[in-house]
Amino acid sequence: MSEPTIIPDPAEPDPLAPTSVDAAVRAALAAAAEATTLEDLKAARLAHQGDRSRLALANRSIGNLPATAKAEAGKRVGAARALVAAAYAARQAELEQERDARILVDEAVDVTLPSGRRPLGRRHPVMLMSDRIADLFVGMGWEIAEGPEVEAEWFNFDALNFDVDHPARQMQDTFYVDPPGGGLVLRTHTSPVQARTLLDRGVPVYVACIGRVYRTDELDATHMPAFHQVEGLAVDSGITMAHLKGTLDRLATELFGDGITTRLRPSYFPFTEPSAEMDLRCFVCRGEDPQCRACKGIGWIEWGGCGMVNRNVLTACGVDADRYTGFAFGMGIDRALMFRTGVSDMRDMIEGDVRFDDQFGMEI
Ligand code: FA5
Ligand code: MG
Repeated sequence: MSEPTIIPDPAEPDPLAPTSVDAAVRAALAAAAEATTLEDLKAARLAHQGDRSRLALANRSIGNLPATAKAEAGKRVGAARALVAAAYAARQAELEQERDARILVDEAVDVTLPSGRRPLGRRHPVMLMSDRIADLFVGMGWEIAEGPEVEAEWFNFDALNFDVDHPARQMQDTFYVDPPGGGLVLRTHTSPVQARTLLDRGVPVYVACIGRVYRTDELDATHMPAFHQVEGLAVDSGITMAHLKGTLDRLATELFGDGITTRLRPSYFPFTEPSAEMDLRCFVCRGEDPQCRACKGIGWIEWGGCGMVNRNVLTACGVDADRYTGFAFGMGIDRALMFRTGVSDMRDMIEGDVRFDDQFGMEI
């Protein structure tokens, strides 16, 4: 598109006259000098260097001059425009420098100021111990099994050979789920996973199940209404009680180190025969204080129950009890944590005081 032809208006001063060009230059330089911010300078540049500025107008009107006058006018306007462009570039550089210096001051950070400390969160030590136990069994080639916390009464009791009038079924031990008689309980132990596993996976089988269980127990130094157990189940041909003892000793060594003393004490569970409980030497008094609060002067603290899987359980779950034998155990994980850390009151584990997790929630 060609430039519009500018027809000089006799009322307007000639834009190419040296006085007009000088005046335009002076006005442009004054505006640049007055600009105190980069925004001001931008506006001034538009007014004095833009398409509608006096110098641009002058430049365009050169085309209307007779050929003889063009060179001189061109020189004058060219020099004026170059002068203005240089002044604006210089002012631009100055203002940018000022802005950068201001930013350095305004946005300076005093790295020596004290900061508000934000403590890092930790996993709960019971969860860390659960992972450690799972790793041990996976390392021995076992599988990890899971079961629901809201469990069918049949899996929690009947499949495990509990008589209908077994005291553990009564309300004082078990949380029943509404509606009454609906056949659902909060599982009181991880043992229902034994029956689920035998039915789902068949034999031979080696599984560990780690999970939360519930009982109507009062909260005290060694009992909680919700706690954690690790269940083990191994069914194969030729499994004996020696395998059970070896496995539990391996677990105890993993969790408590070589110095731990364990003992198997005869006991009773409807789903194992023979049955035993495994005790750990009291970690507080080592069996030497008859007044000890942790072990109540007994010298031992019960860790869990175990035994050879009762053939009634195997049969109820469709396993040939003449061909296969197995062992099972269920150990308290929160109890294990007490031993491992020397915490003498379980209530400290569930109060939610972050200082507890800070102290025990990290394993190196
Ligand atoms: C059982 O729960 C059996 N199911 C264990 C078992 C499994 C036996 C497989 C045979 C074969 P018991 O009620 O003793 O057993 O509980 C096992 C462990 O859970 C206890 O030794 C203890 O370490 C832990 N425990 C029991 N009640 C609580 C509680 N209220 N708070 C914290 N830990 C508990
Ligand atoms: Mg017990």
